[in-house]
Amino acid sequence: MATLVLKIDWDYNPRRFMKLVIMGDTHGEWGLLNTFLNKKKPDILIVCGDFGHWPGNKFTSYKKIKNPNTKIYWCDGNHENHHDLLERLNRGDPRRILAVGDNIYHVPRGRILDLPFLGNTMFIGGAFSVDKEWRTPGLDWFPEEILREVDIDWIPANVTVDTVVSHTSPTEFCPHMYNEKLQHLPWHRDKSGDPSQEVLSKVLWKYKPKNWFYGHYHTFDSGKHGPTDTHWQALGHIGGRYQNFVTFSDEPQHRKESQPGHVNCQVGKLSIS
Ligand SMILES: [Fe+2]
Repeated sequence: MATLVLKIDWDYNPRRFMKLVIMGDTHGEWGLLNTFLNKKKPDILIVCGDFGHWPGNKFTSYKKIKNPNTKIYWCDGNHENHHDLLERLNRGDPRRILAVGDNIYHVPRGRILDLPFLGNTMFIGGAFSVDKEWRTPGLDWFPEEILREVDIDWIPANVTVDTVVSHTSPTEFCPHMYNEKLQHLPWHRDKSGDPSQEVLSKVLWKYKPKNWFYGHYHTFDSGKHGPTDTHWQALGHIGGRYQNFVTFSDEPQHRKESQPGHVNCQVGKLSIS
């Protein structure tokens, strides 16, 4: 089923090393993102949802992102303008990704990219907003935020999925994420019980990916789901207190690291000074 997988034409320079970074929620914090890009200079940046696709800025703020040498790919979180994303989406081509800015792409639910280090990588956005009651429908909250089976049931069962990038997690990973002491804060409310997780669980068991990365919980954790042999990694949000990115690189200093999964990587936190 190779035709389903979108191969990216990288501007790969064989004289230098390739660097890919996976990051948690960026929430439209372009100043912090620019600091990060300037410091780490990844060739590819993947964001696990809540990228910051908001109507308030009429989507023109992407010009503020300074990424001439970095291709950015993100799955949708719950906090995006889903009406705008759906308008842009053409389901006719199952490999299609959406350019929303220069070198900035939204990867719709179920799309698969062939990425260095990660292999066939399925992007599956969506999650339920626990702060929904503070938000206005159609303005900063959209019912389409929740992942549904119809979003992914068109994907053939025999496609190989090595890695999943999602916003929330399958139910199998979730118990590690709940912090009872922080439930008085809207953004730390219990995020389990989200129907999106049930859909992701089906993806987990169906494709048994080697690696899985997600944001949403704004915290850092990792583990292995034994029955499917899946290494999972929860990442903190940009500007937050927890480790919020993972670097994959063939530079020599990165080769020593060996977790998570079967690829070389380093885990880090963007520090602002
Ligand atoms: Fe978030």
